[in-house]
Amino acid sequence: SPPDRVRIVEVGPRDGLQNEPTPVPVAERIALIDALSAAGLPEIEVGSFVSPRWVPQMAGTDAVLAGLTRHPGTRYTVLVPNLKGLEAAQAAQGVHDIALFAAASESFSQRNINCSIAESLERLGEVASAARALGWRIRGYVSCVLGCPYEGAVPVAQVVRVAEALHALGASEISLGDTIGVGTPGQARALIDTLAASLPVTSLAAHFHDTYGQALANLLAVLDRGVRVVDSAVAGLGGCPYAKGASGNVATEDVLYMLDGLGLATGVDLEAVARAGTRLCAVLGRPTASKVARARFG
Ligand code: HMG
Ligand code: MG
Repeated sequence: SPPDRVRIVEVGPRDGLQNEPTPVPVAERIALIDALSAAGLPEIEVGSFVSPRWVPQMAGTDAVLAGLTRHPGTRYTVLVPNLKGLEAAQAAQGVHDIALFAAASESFSQRNINCSIAESLERLGEVASAARALGWRIRGYVSCVLGCPYEGAVPVAQVVRVAEALHALGASEISLGDTIGVGTPGQARALIDTLAASLPVTSLAAHFHDTYGQALANLLAVLDRGVRVVDSAVAGLGGCPYAKGASGNVATEDVLYMLDGLGLATGVDLEAVARAGTRLCAVLGRPTASKVARARFG
């Protein structure tokens, strides 16, 4: 996209709802996603085809896909961990976009997907070649790029290695996950500068959780380095079941407000996103984590 435009990838229905203590009913998930696509979001991660024993909150992703009202301007992405997940995605309705995920930290890889980084990349290679054969678009995630809940600091070289591996297996976009939100802007900027030596900056996305309140600052730092794809979650939903203490993704409403102030266009209607968030928070029975939504619409 042009340098004055940012593409928002809305991850609330997946990254947000996967972490809710009580699974949100399929009908509410559909209503949320439809409201978000109507708000102009160009990409929404709608769920995942992972083991329902590991993440029961994402069971019913096939029913969610079947029930959506497709918006022509929106891509609907699902998270897939292995070939079994890919088969489920194929059996579901209208999937053309998948996200594969790996980690830059060994301990996190073990806890999250029960295998080493090397094993996961091998497995994802098979999933990616099957997806490529179907003509699907592949997005790749690297978790723990700015820190790991089990290992602490993560060497940048490990992030580079995993990001390059995902790129090599056909991921057109690499999303950099600060899974536990511990990073700070200098570190985020340095990460982009290092990755930019081997990957196009335009293929990088920022996926920042706001646990330590650094997410917007980190986003500003990477926007200054040319990153133009931002992952966020309506109402600041989110976390990760395998990263204790991880809070939500940076709130979509807060990102939209900041980008508007910077003169960076998104094509997304902030007020409509906030309304979708308010509705969902009523279902969840708790207040929004978006400061902008609270200040302007609360
Ligand atoms: P495993 O136990 O090692 O796998 O789990 P397995 O192949 O031995 O299978 C065990 C059981 O799971 C079997 O069932 C399989 O059929 C079933 P059983 O015979 O015991 O009844 N199974 C599946 N069922 C449905 N769909 C599937 C599937 N695969 C196997 N695709 C596995 C390995 C990866 C499956 C498991 O560890 C898992 O599902 N983990 C969940 C990981 C997850 O969803 N994490 C959260 C998303 S990642 C994230 O949030 C980070 C991100 O936001 C970026 C960031 O912030 O850093 C993306
Ligand atoms: Mg995440």
